[in-house]
Amino acid sequence: MASPLELIWDWAYAIEHEKLEELYKKAKRDQWNSDVEIDWSQPVDPAGKILDEERMAFLRLKFFQRFSRSQRESFNAHYSAWILSQLLHGEQGALMVAGELIAAVPDYEAKLYAASQAMDEARHAEVFGRYIRKLDKIYPVQPTLKAILREITETPFWQAKTVGMQVVLEGLALGTFINVRAATDCNLLRQILAYVTKDEARHVAFGNLYLKTAIAEMEPDARREVEDFALRVTKKAVAMRRGMEGMDGFDEVLRECGIDPGDFVRAMVEEVRAGFQLASTPGSVHTFKGLILPGIVRAGLVSERVRPGYEQADIKLFSDTSLLEQFEQTGEVRS
Ligand SMILES: [Fe+2]
Ligand SMILES: [Fe+2]
Repeated sequence: MASPLELIWDWAYAIEHEKLEELYKKAKRDQWNSDVEIDWSQPVDPAGKILDEERMAFLRLKFFQRFSRSQRESFNAHYSAWILSQLLHGEQGALMVAGELIAAVPDYEAKLYAASQAMDEARHAEVFGRYIRKLDKIYPVQPTLKAILREITETPFWQAKTVGMQVVLEGLALGTFINVRAATDCNLLRQILAYVTKDEARHVAFGNLYLKTAIAEMEPDARREVEDFALRVTKKAVAMRRGMEGMDGFDEVLRECGIDPGDFVRAMVEEVRAGFQLASTPGSVHTFKGLILPGIVRAGLVSERVRPGYEQADIKLFSDTSLLEQFEQTGEVRS
C-alpha cells in the first residue's frame, strides 16, 4: 500500500498546545514494559471463556449444539484467535499511522505525542501477537478490515488517517477491549487489556484535543474530502459489524474445526429466518453509539452536506460524548 503523505518540519520547537504537551508527559509517565508488567507465565485455557457473550453468540445457534463438547471448545479457541487476530492487524495499522503522524502533523508537540503513541501501538501489537500464539495461530486480515486499512493508508490527509484509525478502527477495538475485559475468564488477557485500554484513553484524548481544531482549520475543499472519507469508512465499519461482510474469512476458522462452511451458512440463514438474533449483551458498551459516532460528530465531520449519507445508510448520529469523556479522563468506563 502506498501512502501519499507530505512531511512537515517544525523548526521552531515551540510548545503552543499545552494540553498536548500534558498528554505527552502523561504518556511518558505511564509507559509500561510488557516483559515486566505482564505475567506471561499465567496459564491460558484455549477452551475456556476468552471473549464476551456478544462475540460468542454463535455458540447459541442450534447448529453448534449438535457438535461434541471438544469440537465446541476447539471452535471457541480458533474463533477467539480469529477475532483477536483482527485486533492485532488493527494495532499494526495504528502503529503505522502513529509513525506517519510523527512526520505529517505540523506542530512539534504533536510530533512528540505521536511518537509516544507509536511506542504504545508497538507494545499493543507485541502483546496481542504473543497472546494469540498461546491460544492458536494468527489468522489473515479480514477483507473488509483490510479495505478500511487501505483507505486509511491511501488518503493524503493526516486528519483523515487519524479519524479512520483513532476514531473508527480504534473505537471498534476499544469497544471490544472494554467488553471482553469485563467478561473474560482469562487472567492473562484481562491483565493485557487493562494496560492496553489505559494507553487507548490517551489516544482517544488526542483526537479530541488536536484533531477537532485541525479539521476546523482545513480549507473547505480538503475538509469536504475528510468528511466524505469519514462517512465511507464508518459505512464499511458498520457493514463489517452488522452484515455478512464481516463473516468473510470466517470460513478458515470453521475449516480449522472440521466444520463445513457451506453447512454453517445454510444453518445460520435458516436459524436467522426462524428468529435467531445476535443480540447485544445488557450492560456492554455499545461501540458505535458510545464511542465511534460521538467521536465523528465531535470532530466536526458531520456537515449538513454529508448528514443524509449517514441517514441513508441507517447509521444513527449519536452525539452524546459522555462515555468518551469519562474514558479520556479515567481510562475506564462504568457501564
Ligand atoms: Fe492500540
Ligand atoms: Fe491506540
